[in-house]
Amino acid sequence: MNGNGEDGSMSRINVMQPWLGEEEVEAVTEVLRSGWVAQGPRVAEFEDRFADSQQAAHAVATSSCTTALHLALVVAGVRSGDDVVVPSFSFVATANAAVYVGARPVFADVSPVTGNLTAETVRAALTPATSAVILVDQGGVPADLEAIREVCDPLGIVVIEDAACAAGSTYRGRPVGAGAEIAAWSFHPRKILTTGEGGMLTTSRADWAARARRLREHAMSVSAADRHASLVSPPESYDEVGFNFRMTDLQAAVGIVQLSRLPEVVDRRRELAAVYAKAVAEIDGLRAVADPAWGTGNFQSFWVEVCAGPGVSTSSITGASAGLEVGRGTGVSTGSAPQVSAGFEMCRGTGVSTEPTTGVSAGFEVCRGTGVATRSTAGASPAYGMDREGLLRALAEAGISARRGIMAAHRQPAYVSSGVSLPVTEHLTDNTLILPLFHQMSDSEQARVVDVLRQGRR
Ligand SMILES: Cc1ncc(COP(=O)(O)O)c(C=O)c1O
Repeated sequence: MNGNGEDGSMSRINVMQPWLGEEEVEAVTEVLRSGWVAQGPRVAEFEDRFADSQQAAHAVATSSCTTALHLALVVAGVRSGDDVVVPSFSFVATANAAVYVGARPVFADVSPVTGNLTAETVRAALTPATSAVILVDQGGVPADLEAIREVCDPLGIVVIEDAACAAGSTYRGRPVGAGAEIAAWSFHPRKILTTGEGGMLTTSRADWAARARRLREHAMSVSAADRHASLVSPPESYDEVGFNFRMTDLQAAVGIVQLSRLPEVVDRRRELAAVYAKAVAEIDGLRAVADPAWGTGNFQSFWVEVCAGPGVSTSSITGASAGLEVGRGTGVSTGSAPQVSAGFEMCRGTGVSTEPTTGVSAGFEVCRGTGVATRSTAGASPAYGMDREGLLRALAEAGISARRGIMAAHRQPAYVSSGVSLPVTEHLTDNTLILPLFHQMSDSEQARVVDVLRQGRR
């Protein structure tokens, strides 16, 4: 299989492609013909359908996930001078949302297995000024919401779920976000469902939903749709300073069609992810993202950790309770073992530790070849034949567009003054990459990607 087109040129494989079709075209055309193109009946319908599909009491459509997060913080009462715990291992919008309300983002480290905040990393980041935590389901991997709420609820700290990537993922048998007081979603084309740009806020609280609904529309007491519906429009008032965070009916019409395809999209993504997982499990020095014990991911991003170091192993990891979280549930099969942790164990030497340990970072330095193991064990951990940058180059040479892993916001100039050190986040950011995965990806395209992964072996 050489991936060449009929003219001999190599066809490009993108990291992601939205799945849009004639149904979306017809839905948008219908809205255009109706003459009502701003926020109106299609937005209301999309909100109802989304709330149903996510088992949420209320849904409020917004212009993006970023604006949904901003609204979530406002309605949850987060204000200037507060601290908001966030993962640095996320798109920068997560931290930015805290800054928009005058709060300080406090970066917490993540689990090396899931890439998500854990109860331990959140607890370590709390300050007397903490009023909220933004919990991200990174790449669609469900975070352990209940464990984090057990820490935060007794302290009156609101947990906001940043489910930007997680439509179609499940947590403890329900859709992700169903157990959250408030959650924010993205419909950017890089996500599972797209409306071009767009977002949603879901919440269990009627008062928060009502305020968010007003705030997204300039805090008007009478919505534009209601004013339009009456011949003599009631006078409106503006009781606080609002925003224009509205979604349009054009976008919502696309969203309604996309939402109807969500189960099919997730099934196909999980099928493709299982093929990648099986291949990666057979390659020394690579570890793939997998389902945690408490849920199933939508594989919005399929990330792989590249372990190219000389391979001294350690039995001491965590603080972020690394190995304990490895999927023991209904995960995508690696084909080689029921635990989806095979690659993880290789990279880390002896793998899943049941001992509570202190250093979050010890095992991770091993992968970079620079670390000193805190409790070194005999086995050398098999390494991959090249580092992450080398693998990205090899993929690019084969016409395959992969991406460096999730960013570390605390290293960006906008946040570098936080001065925080987050070993797991930094390790994952430096050593992971995201492989192409999209609904229309053919088996032969995926085989091309797997070929390159195999060629990079030692
Ligand atoms: C975790 C997370 N939060 C928030 C956002 C921002 O989403 P949007 O582009 O819809 O504002 C993103 C986008 O990549 C994200 O990945």
